[in-house]
Amino acid sequence: MAVIIDGRAIAQKIREDAKRRTAALLERGIRPCLAVVLLGEDPASASYVNAKEKALAEAGMDSRDLRLPASTSEADLLALIASLNRDSLVHGILVQLPLPRHIREERVITAIDPAKDVDGFHPVSLGKLVLGQTGFIPCTPNGIAALLRELPITLNGAHAVVLGRSNIVGKPLAILLSRRDINATVTICHTGTKDLASITRQADILIAAAGKPALVSADMIKAGAAVIDVGVNRVEDPSAKKGWRLRGDVDFKAVSEKAAYITPVPGGVGPMTIAMLIRNVAEAAEQAGNLH
Ligand code: GUN
Repeated sequence: MAVIIDGRAIAQKIREDAKRRTAALLERGIRPCLAVVLLGEDPASASYVNAKEKALAEAGMDSRDLRLPASTSEADLLALIASLNRDSLVHGILVQLPLPRHIREERVITAIDPAKDVDGFHPVSLGKLVLGQTGFIPCTPNGIAALLRELPITLNGAHAVVLGRSNIVGKPLAILLSRRDINATVTICHTGTKDLASITRQADILIAAAGKPALVSADMIKAGAAVIDVGVNRVEDPSAKKGWRLRGDVDFKAVSEKAAYITPVPGGVGPMTIAMLIRNVAEAAEQAGNLH
């Protein structure tokens, strides 16, 4: 039976550290501030944004809550980002994804000043990650790396299989895990992968970030593997109060009987993403205050 990894507890330690850093900044008259931009009313995006703003407040940080209609033009959004880039009271800028279809995500992300790119999605941030230079690391991959470091397993030389190649999770995670400080051997699987199970069964560490509920079944994993579930799929559940519940990319019940470690959904990767965001905002504010 697998040990269930308590993402909330690990995240809490990171948030407490960010809170201490915030208190030190406040003493110097700097209040870390994240501008959070959300277009439209998607309930999942709204709930993520609410959770992020709550965590900022708990750390003693400020947030600029910018909720705009889904019909906002790309030009208006770019103008808003330009003004946030210039605003010295704003240390970080987060534009919640996905954006409405009429807006080019790439244009918007590239418009953010890399010094305020606490999501780590800007080409400069991702380029630095690839090159091993210091920069903002995307929060979900960074949170997963932090979780893995907490486990009593050897990461050096381990075979990590990443399911999914998104720009915000799969791709940066693969780069991060293969860096020398973690030193895993990484395989990326995606929708074009043939005989997926034959590859996932080789994984010492399996990270499921495919966005498909219960994609990973028990026969797809090696006994004793560490399984990290990034999926946050809303599935219908008439017995639930809201009519739906969250389901990960992993068949939790079956896989937890075979894995050595497993993250739950919710309570695994999600809290780590938020903790890393808070840490990045502290970092951005320190850099703006030249405290490094
Ligand atoms: N949408 C899903 N995850 C994220 C994230 O980490 N940051 C932003 N900005 N949007 C997201």
